[in-house]
Amino acid sequence: MRKKISAAHWKMFKNTKESLAFLDEFLPAIAGHDRDDILIFPTATSLSTVIDRVQDTNVRAGAQTMHWLNEGPFTGQTSPTMLTSIGTTHVLLGHSERRLYANESYEHVNLKLKAAIAHDLIPVLCLGEMLADRQTGYTKDTLLAQMGAALANLPTEKAQTLVIAYEPVWAIGTGSTATPEAADQAHAIIRDDLKNRFGPVVASATRILYGGSVKPDNVSSLLCMPNIDGALIGGASLDPGALAAMVKYKI
Ligand code: PGA
Repeated sequence: MRKKISAAHWKMFKNTKESLAFLDEFLPAIAGHDRDDILIFPTATSLSTVIDRVQDTNVRAGAQTMHWLNEGPFTGQTSPTMLTSIGTTHVLLGHSERRLYANESYEHVNLKLKAAIAHDLIPVLCLGEMLADRQTGYTKDTLLAQMGAALANLPTEKAQTLVIAYEPVWAIGTGSTATPEAADQAHAIIRDDLKNRFGPVVASATRILYGGSVKPDNVSSLLCMPNIDGALIGGASLDPGALAAMVKYKI
């Protein structure tokens, strides 16, 4: 059985004070809920404060991106060792907004993924097709190409902690959630590719999250599908009551 993950992705929302106010309401609402793993990806400036605040709770906090090198003249970047030095446990890699607005390629994602694993950070690798890919029947090819580039030359023993988030770009922030069947089909493609790459043990243990307009009223229908192991939630995760309700989804 794969333990499901509920992950809140705050993007460029919530300053430190707002992050703490959120946790004041959210943490009591999910206290003792250890059925699933709960993650929050706050902004870079709130990350350290959030990590301190969730210590001794069942919530973990991660970064929204990172560089692959430990230091250097790279303006605006954060390194793996900087993240681990403040207690970061997870890092999102390859989110479509990074690919779109920061020119992040899957070749860069590959370097970041290997660096994350080398520093004991759990990478959450984001993948997903554009609307045009889906409409022209290229969803599978796109996902396999993204997997191929992001996971190139990753040895099986390094793939054990990998988490994947399938996020169709057309579903992010649009209100157009993928149907549970379409999402599950994409997850099955990803799991099959994991099997070809790393073998059946890694493929059946890897958590594959769905992201893209997950809301309290659709989370259960998505998470009851056999290949969907959790949700990466953007907009709807900004409200503590809504996130608590989604964490406690019922099947
Ligand atoms: P959304 O974002 O839930 O607002 O669609 C999801 C994401 O980008 O991770």
